[in-house]
Amino acid sequence: MVGAMKGGIGKTVTAFNLEYSLQKCGRKVLTVDFDPQSNLTTCFGVEDADVTVGDLMMNVIGDEDLPNEGEYIRERNGVDFIPSSMQLSAVDAKLRLEMGAERMLAAILEPLREEYDYILIDTCPSLGALNINAMAAADEVIVTVNPQLLAMMGLQDFLKTVRKIRNRINSRLNVAGILLTMCDARTVLCRTVMEQMQETFQGQLRIFGSRIPNTVKVGESVYYSEPLTEYVPESNACRAYEELAKKVAANEG
Ligand SMILES: Nc1ncnc2c1ncn2[C@@H]1O[C@H](COP(=O)(O)OP(=O)(O)OP(=O)(O)O)[C@@H](O)[C@H]1O
Ligand SMILES: [Mg+2]
Repeated sequence: MVGAMKGGIGKTVTAFNLEYSLQKCGRKVLTVDFDPQSNLTTCFGVEDADVTVGDLMMNVIGDEDLPNEGEYIRERNGVDFIPSSMQLSAVDAKLRLEMGAERMLAAILEPLREEYDYILIDTCPSLGALNINAMAAADEVIVTVNPQLLAMMGLQDFLKTVRKIRNRINSRLNVAGILLTMCDARTVLCRTVMEQMQETFQGQLRIFGSRIPNTVKVGESVYYSEPLTEYVPESNACRAYEELAKKVAANEG
């Protein structure tokens, strides 16, 4: 799962590019767009999906069977994804009134676990029923941090929430690490934030060595619905995501 409580810090771009980079490492990956904004779905160039994760959530809430996988898992250039739509915000509201509301996404993804090496979940920027579902379904969280957006603010609260979910709902859940995004390695700010993170979390949490540089190439690639591996395979940003994928894949066990 790619998460954090802030918006606009590269969660979606990370989920999208990490999926393609993991695929390049030979892994079979599925990405779930679990945000009503549906930005990840747009990254894949999909406008109006027939069946979305919102429909699946409604099925589970209504105790109905899910459609066939072929109806909701889409494929693009060798990677799979489940699209989202605005409908997911209705699900968010409905979940507040449901029994056992935390584990609905987990129920959807459980049967898919053995088909994939990785299932990535792109989350929305607020802590509500949707993100609790994402954390109940996940084994690991990659926390994205943008040094330009007062990085440490909210981070401790988010980590506290992860601990609560681990203690109360999902004992498998761990923080895979903190990923600095939109980071200009030459700037003092980026170095300062990196050092501050290392000092604060030394021995407790991994700070990924690969930082994602701030580059217009990312926005361009999203505009053209292409991952960096296709749009600018030689760019530093693409390399950074490939390094991240290697780190993630090396940790398998
Ligand atoms: N490394 C980068 N360099 C430059 N721009 C970037 C980078 N990563 C992301 N962006 C841009 O920043 C914006 C926000 O990125 P993204 O959509 O991934 O954030 P998010 O955390 O998913 O936001 P939200 O919380 O709203 O879902 C997008 O316009 C994206 O193109
Ligand atoms: Mg997003």
